[in-house]
Amino acid sequence: MDDLREKYIGLIADAGDEATLEDLRVQAVGKKGEISLQMRSLGQMSPEERQVMGPKLNALKDEINSALAAKKEALEDAALDERLRAEWLDVTLPARDRRAGSIHPISQVTEEVTAIFADMGFSVAEGPQVESDWHNFDALNIPGHHPARAEMDTFYMHRAEGDDRPPHVLRTHTSPVQIRSMELTGAPIRVICPGRVYRADYDQTHTPMFHQVEGLALDTDISMANLKWVLEEFVKAFFEVDDVELRFRASHFPFTEPSAEVDIRCSWEGGQLKVGEGDDWLEILGSGMVHPKVIAAGGIDPNVYQGFAFGMGIDRIAMLKYGIPDLRAFFDSDLRWLRHYGFASLDVPTLHGGLSR
Ligand code: DAH
Repeated sequence: MDDLREKYIGLIADAGDEATLEDLRVQAVGKKGEISLQMRSLGQMSPEERQVMGPKLNALKDEINSALAAKKEALEDAALDERLRAEWLDVTLPARDRRAGSIHPISQVTEEVTAIFADMGFSVAEGPQVESDWHNFDALNIPGHHPARAEMDTFYMHRAEGDDRPPHVLRTHTSPVQIRSMELTGAPIRVICPGRVYRADYDQTHTPMFHQVEGLALDTDISMANLKWVLEEFVKAFFEVDDVELRFRASHFPFTEPSAEVDIRCSWEGGQLKVGEGDDWLEILGSGMVHPKVIAAGGIDPNVYQGFAFGMGIDRIAMLKYGIPDLRAFFDSDLRWLRHYGFASLDVPTLHGGLSR
């Protein structure tokens, strides 16, 4: 037994890895291991011999098992130490700059506009950017050969050869969402529809994709006076001024009758825009009373319901409010620009908390 003890204690001490250790365990105390065989031979011993040898063999078995367990732990510790050494990190290296994201001015302004109109009871509606020719044009009283179609520099989608249906378009304005909203909820209705629109045009004040917000309010008794009040409230809240003067200039849109373009009084003194004072006028949107044909196209009876609509460029009002000179910068993804004009991601615009600060 002393030989066995010496042999295995020595071998266990020398084992260099867990596989070797497992082999030793099988050899010594496994089912057919040397010590197990010895224990089996207890049966052939006399009771006296057994009384002496039994406890001794058990003790030896325990000793070997503890040696195996201790060695196993030591090997695991060594492996962990080795891993820690190999996967070492220098935590004293300087940390990277914080890369807090910021909110793009377009998103910010969209949220601001939404907060203002939500406060006046408008909900938000959205529509597809790839739009049917009918929703983008016909339903808005812009029939096939109307000059407005040519003016809009429309992007047309592809149709399979032999398919003569009019091709879908990338919507040229958010006005088709008026039609979709009417179809969806009927009247009375009060919605704004912010979103991306597309026209094949590119210079300092035009990009092929830009943003608009559409407004639509229909009820049995809505007049231009309501339009004027809503727009005044909007402009005051948006530009964060107490007073504004709006000028309604007679205009023409196929989808409204009468139609008006709306200017706000402003000054450009020192190159800086001030809203509500000065002798200049700044055009900010198109509007009017929704044409009866458009109301009918939306599935609503124009003899019962009437109301106003307006459409406004989000990029444009963002440039005005935040003094951004070139429209194209919105789409350059220039990180320095974004950090300069961007807004903290947790500053959600609300009327009570302040729109832009
Ligand atoms: N859809 C027009 C455009 O893109 C803007 C517009 C003008 C929308 C008058 C309206 C409106 O709803 O009443 O130029």
